[in-house]
Amino acid sequence: MTSARQVVQTVLAGRESNPQKAGSAYAPANIALVKYWGKRDEALNLPVTGSLSISLGPLGSRVELARGTGAGDGIWLNEEKLPGDSSFAQRASAYLDLFRPSPDFVFELRARNTVPTAAGFASSASGFAALAKAVAGLFGWGLSTRELSILARLGSGSAARSLEEGFVEWRAGTAADGMDSFAERLEAEWPELRVGAVVLCADEKPVGSRAGMRRSVATCEFYREWPGRVAKDLAALKAAIAKKDFAALGETAEANALAMHALMAATRPPIVYALPETVAAMRKIWALRQDGLPVWFTMDAGPNVKLLFEAKDEATIRDRFPGVEVVAPFG
Ligand code: DP6
Repeated sequence: MTSARQVVQTVLAGRESNPQKAGSAYAPANIALVKYWGKRDEALNLPVTGSLSISLGPLGSRVELARGTGAGDGIWLNEEKLPGDSSFAQRASAYLDLFRPSPDFVFELRARNTVPTAAGFASSASGFAALAKAVAGLFGWGLSTRELSILARLGSGSAARSLEEGFVEWRAGTAADGMDSFAERLEAEWPELRVGAVVLCADEKPVGSRAGMRRSVATCEFYREWPGRVAKDLAALKAAIAKKDFAALGETAEANALAMHALMAATRPPIVYALPETVAAMRKIWALRQDGLPVWFTMDAGPNVKLLFEAKDEATIRDRFPGVEVVAPFG
């Protein structure tokens, strides 16, 4: 089995370091339209299937990284210094261990999220993507987007998709060391596309995605159906994007999200993220669609729904979902 440290060595083999005073980077958050749920390698975050997301432009993470002077890493999140034993600081330091030139080298990391914390968009994808870029910047490695995607994946799988704007496809790959498992931008532009976050509950989720997907792979009797389903959905979604067929995009994304939540429900013990408010929001979206409003939804490992609609319907959507946070992924 290849370790994350070996992957870093492979990526950096023969690469000159040109250390800088600081590394600074921004990465957008992303929302999957065809989901990643399940790993073939836990240490390297290698997925069982491919996935396809849309990046959220101005919603994301900015990271500044420099060599520190303290006894351990100094880690700030949104201007607040975190205790070393906080889960964020521990996860960030464990990731930085992969790149630490010597055990006494400490980092000073300042992360700022432009994803409103309560908006229900995950910030770990943008956080690890920005961190991978900032590390590469600090040491002056001059890495390609593909290499950065591989390094970001070692922090969090979905971070592999946060190196680019627009539609991004993460190919599962088959290599044991994951060197063929990275994400790339699709050519397409879709300026009229809108994503709306409807926040129903901002509490921490009961089961994190990492533990949840592990449990689904191990116990869900339908999990073996999932790779075939994802392959079909990826093909349908790419065709919808190529044709700019919004109804086909919405249908595919919503059905894929519901299939993932069905897998979760068939996991033992079951994982159900939906709250009564989530089910009410789904019913409302279906009723609006029945009345002719082209709106679909997707959901990740949590109770909040993300609406998919087009710019022409933004006023109606804002009227029906007061407080919705609207993002224009193509600016
Ligand atoms: C439901 O990328 O957070 O959002 O690789 O363990 O860090 P790790 O998991 P993570 O899982 C994301 C799961 C998802 C679907 C998706 O984003 O594709």
